[in-house]
Amino acid sequence: MTGQQRRYAFVGTGHRAQMYLASLLDGHADVGHPVAFCDTNEVRMSYHDRLVAAVRPDLRVGHYAPADFGRMLADERPDTVVITSPDATHAEYVARALEHGADVVVEKPMTTDLAGVRRIQDAVGRSDGELVVTFNYRYSPRNTLVRELIAEGAVGEVTSVNFEWCLDTLHGADYFRRWHRDKATSGGLLVHKSTHHFDLVNWWLDDRPEVVFARGGLFFYGAQNARRRGLENRPERARNVDAGDPFAFDLGADERLRLLYRDGEHLDGYIRDRDVFSEGITIEDNLNVVVGYRRGASMSYTLHAHSPWEGYRVAVNGTEGRIELDVVERGQVRPANASVLDPSADRISGAEAAGSRSQGSRLTLQRHWEPAREIAIGEGRGSHGGGDGMLLDDVFRGPGADPLRRSAGFGDGAASVLVGIAGNESLRTGEAVRLDGLLPPPTATGGR
Ligand SMILES: NC(=O)c1ccc[n+]([C@@H]2O[C@H](COP(=O)([O-])OP(=O)(O)OC[C@H]3O[C@@H](n4cnc5c(N)ncnc54)[C@H](O)[C@@H]3O)[C@@H](O)[C@H]2O)c1
Repeated sequence: MTGQQRRYAFVGTGHRAQMYLASLLDGHADVGHPVAFCDTNEVRMSYHDRLVAAVRPDLRVGHYAPADFGRMLADERPDTVVITSPDATHAEYVARALEHGADVVVEKPMTTDLAGVRRIQDAVGRSDGELVVTFNYRYSPRNTLVRELIAEGAVGEVTSVNFEWCLDTLHGADYFRRWHRDKATSGGLLVHKSTHHFDLVNWWLDDRPEVVFARGGLFFYGAQNARRRGLENRPERARNVDAGDPFAFDLGADERLRLLYRDGEHLDGYIRDRDVFSEGITIEDNLNVVVGYRRGASMSYTLHAHSPWEGYRVAVNGTEGRIELDVVERGQVRPANASVLDPSADRISGAEAAGSRSQGSRLTLQRHWEPAREIAIGEGRGSHGGGDGMLLDDVFRGPGADPLRRSAGFGDGAASVLVGIAGNESLRTGEAVRLDGLLPPPTATGGR
């Protein structure tokens, strides 16, 4: 290790933090090392201490409560702050870290409301620090190919996009068990989840959204829907429902879930396994959005969170043809695997696959008056369609001269999240919402 090592602080030491920390300790150990953790929960910080100790027993990583974030910045002097705390907390941490002069890596969504966008914009304008918003789906080879095809004019000028995202009753249900179920904390799925999808379309089209209209509601999960469907008298915690219940979720069955969440819940009351049919859910599970873009194209977008399979379908229509991307991330939910949330880790094989939707991706280009052509999709590295591996190289080593401009900053982070924020406003008012004047244009550096 050299004296030139960058100092990294981690805010929010739950599930997602582990990927960044493990990558820093392993493939990017030459770049820097962790110096501080900031979280509400000592158990989760200690879990990450053990990951550090297994590789670098010489390191001592400081622990800080959220109220001591300022002291952390002053005492630990991080060069980079990695933010993986719940969504509504991002803006304040991003802004304060930038104002302190640190670089910031923030998970999607960049923030959850307009005040957060403005708070970050103000800090970006006054800081020399760099802000990276980690849109890992851009790095997935199949999604990268769509950008390349559009950029090279394979379908001419894009006129419209049709985008449907299906979250299944494992992964989709998980957003209704914990903090994501509270719109004030996650912004709802239009912000928390769809920020990925809105970013992909903004990036594919190299354009900015202009107007948003949304409809949707909570039609499947939640206590009211349970009553309507005769699913009453369920316990508050999903671990207590019958083992055969497809929504059973046992934190004790998976060592990592147990160590991170069950063992720490007495400290801060973070309950990871609420029943998906309990009271208190304030987010939607079915959403439809129409987005108009500045150059004239439009998108119709659908998200639902109780699909029998997981994946997405995209069609890009252009003046010279059409691109179709069909992705099955999990062909069928197997209730016995309720703690296997990552679809890529739950592949169905052999006899079980019979009659099941086959897992995989298919990218088709059909130009006018030509037969359809299937485009081969390369292999990525890591979760999220092979996007995480390459994202981590960019995060820790810098993006270099990427002609695809995959590394994103404030402008791109704002452009995607504002579609969701405007969508939430549209759901509330029933009116279309214009984004005029709220967004910088796309730039070679993602609007940093
Ligand atoms: N890009 C992706 O594909 C992807 C995947 C998963 C999560 N994420 C993002 O990562 C972030 C974290 O998600 P997660 O699944 O790890 O959640 P998590 O609940 O597992 O972890 C969040 C952590 O933040 C801590 N925390 C709560 N309030 C805090 C506060 N005020 N200050 C500091 N820490 C606080 C919690 O104690 C917990 O340890 C979210 O923004 C989420 O959108 C992104």
